[in-house]
Amino acid sequence: MEVIITPSAREASAVAARIAAALIRANPRAVLGLATGGTPLGFYDELAAAHARGGLDFSQVTTFNLDEYVGLAPDHPQSYARFMREHFFSRVNIPPNRIHIPDGLATDIPAHCAAYEAAIRDAGGIDLQLLGIGSDGHIGFNEPGSSLGSRTRLKTLAGRTICDNARFFPSPDEVPRHVITMGVGTILDARRCLVLAFGEAKAAAVADMVEGPVTASVPASALQFHPSCALLVDEPAAARLKRADYYRWVYAIKPEWQRP
Ligand code: PGA
Repeated sequence: MEVIITPSAREASAVAARIAAALIRANPRAVLGLATGGTPLGFYDELAAAHARGGLDFSQVTTFNLDEYVGLAPDHPQSYARFMREHFFSRVNIPPNRIHIPDGLATDIPAHCAAYEAAIRDAGGIDLQLLGIGSDGHIGFNEPGSSLGSRTRLKTLAGRTICDNARFFPSPDEVPRHVITMGVGTILDARRCLVLAFGEAKAAAVADMVEGPVTASVPASALQFHPSCALLVDEPAAARLKRADYYRWVYAIKPEWQRP
């Protein structure tokens, strides 16, 4: 895994956006896997700015979001469908029929999850998957204990995630208990993964993910098996990495042709 430690979240977001923009320029039909939460906001701002400047065209891009809350309609203020519209889709030109988010109101959840997996396959697979990491080591909503081979399915949120995400809801009681999420196996199938993590609350999960054993107790650690995964962190999120000096050294002398 490549670990890039940047002076600020803003810089990390800019690097991640440059990677995504380069992919879209090279392949206008790119398939992006997208994430929600506080972490990717700067990434979406950067891509929206690149679009507004006139250069970056999303008209043939296809997207698949990682997850959605069960029971929330797409126009619910806390749904991830609404989050994506507000923070990204309303600011770029992705045709609505190319946007995919699990349906929180699906009546037959297993069938919906199977159809979501099939849609990813039919689109040719995900070229670039953006990820955050939960303070408990989750990716998507794959909570500790998730099968490392899991596919899109229903999951029950862990208490810690409910607490972490309560800040987006009027009260913790209103955080849904169930979600639909891509599985760890679904995520590992993406051709490239980009993980963003900012702030000291993520430092322990980041260290476990990069330098700990691969274990279902830290679902993000499965990314150690991924052949093309980059982690972009700010200094507080990097604080518990034992090999931080080595990662800095690698990035400092990275050949120019490899730089995003
Ligand atoms: P956050 O969530 O970006 O809101 O910290 C990250 C995650 O749960 O994946």
